[in-house]
Amino acid sequence: MSGFDGKTVFVSGGTSGINLGIARHFAREGARVFVISRDPQKVEAAVAELRALGGEADGLSADVRSQEAVDAAFAACVERFGQIDILISGAAGNFVAWGKDISSNGFRAVMEIDVLGTHHVMHAAWPHLKKPGACVINISAPQGSVAMVGQSHVCAAKAGIDMLTRALALEWGRDGIRVNSVSPGPIADTEGQKRLMPNEDAVAERVAAIPLRRMGSLEDVSELCAFLASDKAGYITGAVIPVDGGTTLNPTPMRMEAILK
Ligand code: NAP
Ligand code: COA
Repeated sequence: MSGFDGKTVFVSGGTSGINLGIARHFAREGARVFVISRDPQKVEAAVAELRALGGEADGLSADVRSQEAVDAAFAACVERFGQIDILISGAAGNFVAWGKDISSNGFRAVMEIDVLGTHHVMHAAWPHLKKPGACVINISAPQGSVAMVGQSHVCAAKAGIDMLTRALALEWGRDGIRVNSVSPGPIADTEGQKRLMPNEDAVAERVAAIPLRRMGSLEDVSELCAFLASDKAGYITGAVIPVDGGTTLNPTPMRMEAILK
C-alpha cells in the first residue's frame, strides 16, 4: 500500500518542472495522475514518464485560458479515472520586464494563465471533486507576498491566486474541501529559475540572500504537496505555505542588470 493508492490527482501545467515533479511524486505513491498543458508533445512525454513509474496516467493538451478546453480535460479525466481527489493548479507564465515596458497583451497573458486559469481549473473541478475529503493546491510564488523587480505582473497574478485560495477555502470548507497555496522559492533546474536567474552571478546573488543558502529541489515542493494532500493536514485550509528556504524573509532585490536589459 502506498500513501495515495486509489486517489486521482489532476495537475494543470503538469508536464514539466515543478508540477511534473509533483505529478511524479503522487504517481510513485500510487495515485492515478492526469496532466494538462498546451504542448501535446510535452503532454505525451509526461504521460509516458508517469506510466513508466508503474501507475496509471493520462493527459490532454489544453490551454487553461479557455474554460471550454479545461472543462473538456476534466471530462476526459473523470471518464478515465472517476472522481478527482486532489487538484494541483500549477500552470503559469513568467518573463522578466520593467512594469513600464509590459504591454497590455503581455500583462494579460500572465494574468490569464495564472489567475483566470486557476479560476477555470477550480470551476471545472468543482462538480468532480470527491466531497468531503478532496483538496486543492494552487502553486503560488514569493511574488504573491513580496514585491520583486521585473515581476510586477507576476506579483499581481500570484497575489491574485493566493486570494482565490483564501476565498474558495472560505466557500468550500462546508463541503469538506480544503484549498491551500504552496509557494516555492527558487527551485533549481526549472524554467522559472532560468528566466529569473539567467547567469551564474544572478544565481549566486540569489542563493546568498536565501536564509538556508541553497536553491530548493523538486522534492522539497512535492513533499509539502503530499503532506498537504494527506489526512495529516486535515485541519489546514486557506493557507499560503512557503517552501522557500526563507526566501520571503529576505527578498533582497536581484541585481537589475542581471535580469533586465
Ligand atoms: P514550467 O516548467 O515552465 O511549468 C509551467 C507549466 O505550465 C508547463 O507544463 C507549461 O506547459 C504549462 N503552461 C504554461 N502556460 C499554460 C497554459 N496557458 N495552459 C496550460 N498549461 C500551461 O515552469 P516551473 O518553473 O516548473 O514553474 C511551475 C510552477 O511553479 C508555476 O506555477 C510557477 O509560477 C511556480 N514557481 C516556480 C518557481 C521556480 O523556481 N521555478 C518558483 C516559485 C513558483 P506548456 O508550455 O506545454 O503549456
Ligand atoms: N518582456 C516583455 N513582454 C513580453 C516578454 C518579455 N520578456 N515576453 C513576452 N512578452 C509579451 C509579448 O510581447 C506579447 O505582448 P504583445 O502582443 O503586446 O507584443 C505578450 O507578452 C504575449 O506573448 P506571447 O508570446 O504571444 O504569449 P503566449 O501566450 O504565447 O506565452 C508567455 C505566454 C509570454 C507567458 C510565455 O512566456 C509562456 O508561454 N510561458 C510559459 C512557461 C513559463 O513562463 N514558465 C515559467 C513559469 S514560472
